[in-house]
Amino acid sequence: MAILRVAQMGHPVLRMVAEPVDEEMLESEAFQEFCDDLLETMIEYDGAGLAAPQVHVSLRVVVLTLDDEAGPEFFVNPVITPLATELRRSWEGCLSVEGMRGAVERPAHVRIEALDRDGTPKAYELHGFPATVVQHECDHLDGVLYIDRVEPKTLMFQREYRRFGPYSDYAREMGTNEPEEEDEEEVAGDETVEMDQNGGG
Ligand code: NI
Repeated sequence: MAILRVAQMGHPVLRMVAEPVDEEMLESEAFQEFCDDLLETMIEYDGAGLAAPQVHVSLRVVVLTLDDEAGPEFFVNPVITPLATELRRSWEGCLSVEGMRGAVERPAHVRIEALDRDGTPKAYELHGFPATVVQHECDHLDGVLYIDRVEPKTLMFQREYRRFGPYSDYAREMGTNEPEEEDEEEVAGDETVEMDQNGGG
């Protein structure tokens, strides 16, 4: 097991379309070791999720936690399909765009189909925080960063986000604070501030 180095915005690997994982690779020891390393790196950086290109490996693999009880899960060759036109806005961060936060709107209800790290097919329908996280991570596989989708005027450095952002005392005083969504608590335990409580994905 090893902790890998996280690529920062500007590194070309973050802008490449990643390669699918084929059956032969899936069965290889090297791939399984890579999955262990990706997971260890996500835990080390306290991320909500991590995609292989973020550790300089251009393969269609992400790891993320949909449910605290189930723990982190792998999605190999994932395909996301929006299931409704309704959008959900949330404050995202990314381990590859260090020290920033910004508001992004994404489809609120999606289906994800993928293989597990052992090749078992799986599919979920997701709402709320998990729907946001899978879309953020799977964007990395197509060379897309959240800042490509951000509402530009909401981009903040982390320090200013804590001081003046939507969950700050400043925002409460100004009456511009955002209510914490109820469904967040169900799906993400006490992670009501979503990706703010860690380094993003
Ligand atoms: Ni990210």
